[in-house]
Amino acid sequence: MQVHDTIDSFRKALDAERAGGRTVGLVPTMGYLHEGHLSLLRRAVADCDVAAATIFVNPLQFGAGEDLATYPSDLEGDSRLAAGAGVAHLFTPATSEMYPGEVLTTVTVAGASEGLEGGARPTHFAGVATVVAKLFNIAGPCRAYFGEKDWQQLQVVRRLVTDLSFPVEVVACPTVREPDGLALSSRNVYLSTGQRRAAPVLYRALLAGRAAAGAGAEATAVEAAMTEVVSAEPLADLDYAAVRDDRLLIAVRFGPTRLIDNLAMEE
Ligand code: PAF
Repeated sequence: MQVHDTIDSFRKALDAERAGGRTVGLVPTMGYLHEGHLSLLRRAVADCDVAAATIFVNPLQFGAGEDLATYPSDLEGDSRLAAGAGVAHLFTPATSEMYPGEVLTTVTVAGASEGLEGGARPTHFAGVATVVAKLFNIAGPCRAYFGEKDWQQLQVVRRLVTDLSFPVEVVACPTVREPDGLALSSRNVYLSTGQRRAAPVLYRALLAGRAAAGAGAEATAVEAAMTEVVSAEPLADLDYAAVRDDRLLIAVRFGPTRLIDNLAMEE
């Protein structure tokens, strides 16, 4: 595996792969890789001639008071995991490489960014869209793999690609869960033992929402069914339980840690 810490080196390496007739799969991440990321890497390796991954904790997508400074990282472990999964190129830029000066150009995806995560974190999706646009510009034509766990992010990225005509095919990959239903997330490490025990309440609430929808409930009753499950868990503080299109979406706080999850309304 080649590790690149400059834009120039990563861009040239992927250009050379395509010049050699090889298709490129791209997996953008913020590192601290877990099985969810690995499922994306394996999919990219299986689908494409060459898989590339990026590890960059993007300051632009963190709001004031969020966990940018404490976001978990393990570059050495990540490199081992990425190489083990079959990644050929790993891009690990410093912040000064991605943002050498004040950022005056940002990308906003209206509509898809609004409400839910966009409501709770008003600058988040502009940060995501901006860094993803940069990564797509750097990587060039490719398939890009994103987890369904961040459902709203996936819709933002899809719309970004359509509206700005990036030569990128977005591939959505299913959420990977612990045996008790908790969706894998780098932020799960923040949970205390008690909070970790309580955290599968997100999945239980989604299942209750799905059951209510299956029984013919209207959206507000589906949301109420999800809310009721979370209310019964003393360590959980509901941020939102919502129905959007055919998706159930939920965000819950456990102390300072905020977790999100989602599920298709129908199985
Ligand atoms: O999902 C993530 O890890 C990040 O939001 C992404 C897409 C890598 C952009 O920083």
